[in-house]
Amino acid sequence: MIEYEWTQELCESYTNNIRPMIKHDHFNWAAKIVKQINSSQENLKYLDIATGPGFLLVEVAKMLEKPVLFAHDGSKFMLNIAEKEAKNSGFEIQKFHSDAEKINIENNSMDIVTCKQLLHEVKSPEKIISEIYRVCKPDGKVFIVDFDKNSSSIGAKLIKTFVKVNTNKQIADNFWKSYKNGLDGKKVKQMTKDAGFSKVFYIKSGYNYFILAKK
Ligand SMILES: C[S@@+](CC[C@H](N)C(=O)[O-])C[C@H]1O[C@@H](n2cnc3c(N)ncnc32)[C@H](O)[C@@H]1O
Repeated sequence: MIEYEWTQELCESYTNNIRPMIKHDHFNWAAKIVKQINSSQENLKYLDIATGPGFLLVEVAKMLEKPVLFAHDGSKFMLNIAEKEAKNSGFEIQKFHSDAEKINIENNSMDIVTCKQLLHEVKSPEKIISEIYRVCKPDGKVFIVDFDKNSSSIGAKLIKTFVKVNTNKQIADNFWKSYKNGLDGKKVKQMTKDAGFSKVFYIKSGYNYFILAKK
């Protein structure tokens, strides 16, 4: 794992530097996620864990009908940024500030839960996946995306260069450190099964794993 101190400065720098990547990253993930759910259903309760600036939350929300949005993060700075980002796109969010090992949300309450680019930063991914299970409704769907230790580093090296050109060296270096600390996607699939999900799929997607699970 790799630990970052999510200070106000790092949160703001992450937000501003990652923004140009939304169309290549968060938008594409949102499209993949929304394909797996009944997006015409109104009022789906959607939680994004470790939402950061809320970029995935907003991109998914744009593809849903009147979603009810919940943003979780361990950093209050990030939650405030996510709230502003959502507002700029016409969405209200409910904010939840806690460590992802103990999410302050009721059992069986969410229709959709996403968690992107968090697990490489935590000591106990198993605990987080069991928290995701706990807050998800029966029949609810979960999507986990993160750097895959199994992936070829060629794609990640290309992206590192792309990030350096489009953002800056610090963000590119953090990207590379985070990639190098990615978990094995197959192990994450097993952890997800062990948490109790009824159906779990693992899709290799470039340098990321994409775990799809149903409670
Ligand atoms: C790399 S950013 C990813 C943000 C967003 N999911 C995305 O893909 O753009 C990681 C986020 O995880 C949060 N985070 C890191 N460790 C955490 C923990 N133990 N509990 C809750 N949030 C955490 C950070 O505050 C940060 O917002």
